[in-house]
Amino acid sequence: MIIGLSFVVMAGTLTNMLGDYLFEQRIRQDRAGLEKWAVQAAPALHAADTRELSRMLTQAGNELGGRVLLLDSDGKVQSDSFMEMNGMRLKNREVASILVQGRSADYGIHSLDGRTVDTPGALALGRDTEGWVSMGTAGIVHASQVIGVMVLVSSVNEMMTNLYVLQDNMVIIFVAVATAAILTGMVFSGILTNPMAELTRGIQRMGKGDFSARVPEKGSGEIKHMAQAFNSMSEKLESFDQSRNQFVSNASHELKTPLSTMKIMIESLIYQPDMEEALRTEFLGDVNKEIDRLSAIVSDLLTLVQADVHTMKLNRERMSLAAVVKEAAHRLQPLVQQRQQQVMLSIEDSCDMYADRSKLEQVAYNIMENAVKYTQQGGEIHVSLTRSGKDAAFVVKDNGPGISKDALAHVYERFYRVDKARAREAGGTGLGLSIVHQLVTLHSGTIRAESEEGKGTTFIIELPLHKG
Ligand SMILES: Nc1ncnc2c1ncn2[C@@H]1O[C@H](COP(=O)(O)OP(=O)(O)OP(=O)(O)O)[C@@H](O)[C@H]1O
Ligand SMILES: [Mg+2]
Repeated sequence: MIIGLSFVVMAGTLTNMLGDYLFEQRIRQDRAGLEKWAVQAAPALHAADTRELSRMLTQAGNELGGRVLLLDSDGKVQSDSFMEMNGMRLKNREVASILVQGRSADYGIHSLDGRTVDTPGALALGRDTEGWVSMGTAGIVHASQVIGVMVLVSSVNEMMTNLYVLQDNMVIIFVAVATAAILTGMVFSGILTNPMAELTRGIQRMGKGDFSARVPEKGSGEIKHMAQAFNSMSEKLESFDQSRNQFVSNASHELKTPLSTMKIMIESLIYQPDMEEALRTEFLGDVNKEIDRLSAIVSDLLTLVQADVHTMKLNRERMSLAAVVKEAAHRLQPLVQQRQQQVMLSIEDSCDMYADRSKLEQVAYNIMENAVKYTQQGGEIHVSLTRSGKDAAFVVKDNGPGISKDALAHVYERFYRVDKARAREAGGTGLGLSIVHQLVTLHSGTIRAESEEGKGTTFIIELPLHKG
């Protein structure tokens, strides 16, 4: 629209300017001729020398290229180079402006189609009844008195036709340019707004809870970046949504299992009032164990949820990681003895750091407990703590059954257990490693595992020493 409008304004101004220029030239030329003849005719008009006047008019008409008329001070035609209007009175605007308004010369353009012609007779040039003529007038002065008017009527058809052709061309060019501008504008705005529209649709879909919404990453610059950012955001949200659903269903399942065990045992207690004392005590002991298990799961879940929503605060203090590892080994001692295993501790550095002691205790205990739990009776577990640069490296290596490559990729997932039956027997819920992973990440550390089936597993945890 803007381009089209500016073109219209430009084309209009240009045609006007060109028209003005052509008129100016023509007027100047005609006026100069007229004024020259007006001066020459003055004595003859004053002397009322009709023959001389008509001779001069014929000559002037030839020289100026048009019809020349000579009027007296009343506007009456004294002489006409076309010999048609002698004795008639001319009332044209150009004549009146000299005789009534007292101007020395005037000029006007008239169309022959009859609309602006007051006296067609004077304006007629030959047999033409259409087209354009100009009427120029100049006062004839004698002794400072206007004694008559010299009139020149000539054809300006060619000039006007040229102007109209020019105008028509301008209109054609304008239509072409405007169409091109509108088309290109539409194409460009389409290119620009399409991705935006797609993005909006994607956002709306996501707003309705459809996290599978993705938008094509086309275009360039900002819009492409926006689409990429949107896609990676929706990918994250989708995977969060999936893992949340998975988490809820796993959690309910895990909570349900101990509950149903407990229900069976309590029902037996209710419906068998004459149950032996020893069996009753055993049942109650089992129920108690299940309750412990439930509360362990619930507290694990709470830990994970807290870490998830970033509300978990680290209570950092000056502490020694070596002391934490020794403490975990000490707590595991009864289990180790029961399983007739050997735990070799190799602590090279006290690894003093500024960290959350109780959380790192959870980390060390979980990793070492796994090694003990999943390694067969009589197995060996090597625990080492060293300092490497700015990090503390805590490595737990066992010679247990190992973890397959496929399973290794999942061990940090919530409720994931490689061998469900065996892990449950060992009392695990599959939350240990995901808690460890969260806590290590919270301390800006890293955890990784290497394992070979049948040979053993090694967990390596690196924690920055000077964090905080
Ligand atoms: N050292 C190891 N050797 C072999 N398998 C292991 C070892 N550590 C972990 N795993 C496997 O990885 C799974 C996940 O471990 P994780 O500690 O997360 O859960 P869990 O020990 O089963 O339960 P929880 O720790 O919550 O009591 C375990 O079930 C086990 O199958
Ligand atoms: Mg565990």
